[in-house]
Amino acid sequence: MQRLTTISAVRAASRKARAENRRIALVPTMGALHEGHLALVEQAGREADVVLVSIFVNPAQFGPGEDYETYPRVLEADEDLLRQQGVATHVFAPTVQEMYPDGPAAQRAAVIVDQLTDTLCGAYRSGHFDGVTTVVSMLLHIAQPHVAVFGQKDAQQLAVIRRMVRDLHLPVDIVAVPTVREPDGLARSSRNAYLSPAERAQAPVLYNALRAAAEAVREGELQGRPLVRRMQARVADAPLAEPQYIEVIDADDLLPVDDLQPGQRILLALAVYFGDTRLIDNIPITVPSRT
Ligand code: PAF
Repeated sequence: MQRLTTISAVRAASRKARAENRRIALVPTMGALHEGHLALVEQAGREADVVLVSIFVNPAQFGPGEDYETYPRVLEADEDLLRQQGVATHVFAPTVQEMYPDGPAAQRAAVIVDQLTDTLCGAYRSGHFDGVTTVVSMLLHIAQPHVAVFGQKDAQQLAVIRRMVRDLHLPVDIVAVPTVREPDGLARSSRNAYLSPAERAQAPVLYNALRAAAEAVREGELQGRPLVRRMQARVADAPLAEPQYIEVIDADDLLPVDDLQPGQRILLALAVYFGDTRLIDNIPITVPSRT
């Protein structure tokens, strides 16, 4: 596995792979890799011959007061994990200066997906998705992959990136990988490391709440509001949990739905604070047809 740190080195590796008719998969990450990321890399290995994992804590997607400064940066440990897994062929670990030579604030061009970024996390993290779509489109242009792999855990990010690729006719397939969970159901996230033992003990309430609502949909509940109330009640069982949003939304336009239609693809989604740590989770469901 090769570490690349410059855009020109990634371009050269990509050109070489394409000249040899080898498929390239990109797995964009911010590092602090865990089982969830390794599942993305595993999938990338099934999709392509060359698997490029980018590790870049992107300043442009963090708002004031968010955890940009403290976000874990553990490149050597990340590379060890990838080497053990044996799927990644290249790591792209650029500096901020390499990606934003004049600094992120001096960047005059951006890629913006509107509307889909106004709800859920976007409603609370102003500019976050503009930073994500801009850096992902930079990475796609630099690496020119055939496939890029993202986690279902960041469902809004996935929907926004799919829309960017569709609207801009970008020549890349977006592949989604299901959320990887701890044995108690907590979705794997680099931010789980911030939880105190007491918060960690209560954090599975996110998945429990989502599962309770998913069960209700399977049993025939077709109204969004009772589903939201059910999730709110579950989250309230955890005294350290402070919900930011708890929603039932359409999986395509990401708008809240009240009347669920059979066959409709929806997301049960929530964001919950434990102290300063913000956790998100979701379950995608296709509303069952009545028999
Ligand atoms: O999901 C993430 O880790 C980031 O948002 C991404 C896609 C790597 C862009 O910085």
